[in-house]
Amino acid sequence: MSKQQKVQIELPPKLIPLFSEPNVRYRSSWGGRGSGKTRTFALMTAIKGYMYAEAGVSGLILGAREFMNTLSESSMEEIKQAIRSVPFLKDYYEMGENFIRTKNRRVSYGFAGLRHNLDSIKSKARILLCWVDEAETVSEIAWRKLLPTVREEDSEVWITWNPERRDSATSRRFRHDQIFDDLTGELIGVGVEMNYSDNPWFPEVLEIERRQDKANLDDETYRWIWEGDYLELSEAQIFRNKYEVMDFVPDSQKWDGPYQGLDFGFSQDPTAATRSWIYDDCLWIEYDAGAVGLELDDTVEFLSKLIPDIGLYPIYADNARPESISHLSRKGLKRIRACEKGKGSVEDGIAFIRSFKRVYIHTRCKETLNEFKNYSYKKDRITDEVLPIIIDAFNHYIDSLRYALEKASKGRKRANPAGAGSRTFAQ
Ligand SMILES: Nc1ncnc2c1ncn2[C@@H]1O[C@H](COP(=O)(O)OP(=O)(O)OP(=O)(O)O)[C@@H](O)[C@H]1O
Ligand SMILES: [Mg+2]
Repeated sequence: MSKQQKVQIELPPKLIPLFSEPNVRYRSSWGGRGSGKTRTFALMTAIKGYMYAEAGVSGLILGAREFMNTLSESSMEEIKQAIRSVPFLKDYYEMGENFIRTKNRRVSYGFAGLRHNLDSIKSKARILLCWVDEAETVSEIAWRKLLPTVREEDSEVWITWNPERRDSATSRRFRHDQIFDDLTGELIGVGVEMNYSDNPWFPEVLEIERRQDKANLDDETYRWIWEGDYLELSEAQIFRNKYEVMDFVPDSQKWDGPYQGLDFGFSQDPTAATRSWIYDDCLWIEYDAGAVGLELDDTVEFLSKLIPDIGLYPIYADNARPESISHLSRKGLKRIRACEKGKGSVEDGIAFIRSFKRVYIHTRCKETLNEFKNYSYKKDRITDEVLPIIIDAFNHYIDSLRYALEKASKGRKRANPAGAGSRTFAQ
């Protein structure tokens, strides 16, 4: 801060020491949802930018994430909001639709996705500060490439994330209260865990979500979402070791499909649709689309925006809602049909999905991925044993997949009586 100005900004108390520590390169904060990490770090990048510019230093503040295809997926909006919320920062910066910079032009912001733009980041000049938000899935290779790129004197790297895997590169590197230089023993990084209870502005809407999760989820899942624990459901996870995230473009000449399915929402549940393909004994989930509170009248338009040409291909929907199916058919989903379901269809559908060598989930299908991570068997609270009871949650996109694949699964069984567990798929 310049001597003339004395400004006050409010931070969650637990984060004050983190930003007060002088001369460290890494500042990290991890923890559960809604703990104020993103807001606070966004604000502090702007304060830091102000300090650099006032000190006559010029360069770039890089807001990075693992995935970022457009600026709307970046931290830009959060940073703009943070700047607007503090009068002296608002006066100090100028902002346009796709830029943020100090009025004296010394410091400007850039945004990038580490998965796809890492090499272009390497060519960016003079990175003073890089803040990686949502950093859980940033790979070791990405860290190795990124960190030496941030090389201005006194440059810093800030990291925020919701931990999920104990062995993630991000947690291994940065989930530490203090980080010391291996060679000199000098303190080079500080970190702190933040959870909702550490956020003085934890909003009521999230409090309602949290209470519901506390009541409905098993303790491990709850603690992962809200308390910064790792997600260690492994044995209970229905699709464990089965799926991975991938960018791909289906070859409609060679691949079987597309298989489209639709699960209707109720008041709390989303209407959810997916499009997938079968190729090389693997299931490829290419698109998903869904929303809570979607009116039936708006459904076709909504789905068509997110799943191209959805109306051209068959789409199988929950047979419990025949009147909704005929409504959507009249509205333009001409090839919509009711699935059959029947006894044991949930178990059969799961077995069929598990029978693939691998399930590839396209990077854009975030909701489907979330369900694959969380769809679980019940664990006995007292003995901790996994029971053959499927928890009726995180299953809307997965239900749409089951409906979509019902016919393919029968074809496969008929062609090969060994059943869904077999590796060869009927052509
Ligand atoms: N400085 C602040 N002033 C007012 N409200 C705030 C402030 N910081 C946080 N909040 C409130 O807390 C909510 C959660 O904050 P934030 O999004 O920063 O949390 P987070 O830890 O990044 O959450 P997630 O893990 O979900 O990304 C915000 O949506 C906002 O309602
Ligand atoms: Mg956040």
